[in-house]
Amino acid sequence: MSDPICRRMRPEEAEALVALLAAAYGNPRFGPTVARLSRMPNAAIHVLEADGALCAGAAVVDYGRVAYLGIVGTDPAMQGRGFGRRIVEAALAPVPADRVILLDASPSGAPLYETLGFVDVDASVVLEAQGPVEAPPVPGVVPMTEANLPAVAAYDAAVFGADRTAGLAALFREHPAGLVCRRDGRVAGYGLRHPDRIGPVLAEDQEIAAALVAALSVLAPAGPMTITVPSSHTPMLDHLRRRGVPELRRLRHMRRGGDRHPSDRGRIAAMASFHLG
Ligand SMILES: CC(C)(COP(=O)(O)OP(=O)(O)OC[C@H]1O[C@@H](n2cnc3c(N)ncnc32)[C@H](O)[C@@H]1OP(=O)(O)O)[C@@H](O)C(=O)NCCC(=O)NCCS
Repeated sequence: MSDPICRRMRPEEAEALVALLAAAYGNPRFGPTVARLSRMPNAAIHVLEADGALCAGAAVVDYGRVAYLGIVGTDPAMQGRGFGRRIVEAALAPVPADRVILLDASPSGAPLYETLGFVDVDASVVLEAQGPVEAPPVPGVVPMTEANLPAVAAYDAAVFGADRTAGLAALFREHPAGLVCRRDGRVAGYGLRHPDRIGPVLAEDQEIAAALVAALSVLAPAGPMTITVPSSHTPMLDHLRRRGVPELRRLRHMRRGGDRHPSDRGRIAAMASFHLG
């Protein structure tokens, strides 16, 4: 095999990258993620390629103050040869030096990130609800519409610490199921639902967060839904545990750069994803 070259992914390679990620993660469902990242103007997917075949891939979403690293994977047949390190370094190389870089590390990725200077923040806890997650309703919750997006994105930016408009709009347009909670004419929380996932959910307090999760969990389609909760949000974790929602796994939420985390993780009841934050 010749020495792989590193470059931006070409549109016609999306399918090959989805196959590589399916093999690396043991999860065949990366199609929508790769398509979403390909469309986002602030996202860049890098690949390592040798003799016409992909060896590794990684993506960075640049939010301005913050950049998120995700979908890092090496073809299982080629792991342990330094390709993971090369693809991560290549993906991060174009990111301006003032960015805080965030990621959620799997057990196989964490040792690499440690050597690249990432430090632990908290854990991102993946739970899976099999059906509705009950909680008392709160006033002011209405279905989200396209017209709500600017106000929701502004609220999200204040909590997340950077402007995620492109990613949130992409998620909402793929599956327009979301809720907004308004108090005194201002956004006090919001949440999105995808067929197999609840999140992001951001809210001013746990009462609103739990009511949003409950209302999102009864939307169609019925069936298992994952919800990824920062371990810093103990009220939501406790609530889900009390409702019998089991934990599937935990990833290490890591940061590089900046002297503090840009987000208020205590108001993030559920994350959007491991590539959008
Ligand atoms: C994480 C992953 C991309 C690493 O790819 P790779 O090509 O094997 O990585 P490298 O060969 O560049 O190794 C990187 C470093 O991590 C270390 N490492 C790799 N896998 C490891 C493991 N399972 N346990 C401990 N250390 C490990 C290597 O020793 C190496 O350190 P070094 O450069 O100091 O020698 C790959 O294991 C993978 O695709 N995993 C499945 C998907 C996944 O979990 N991705 C990460 C999401 S955060």
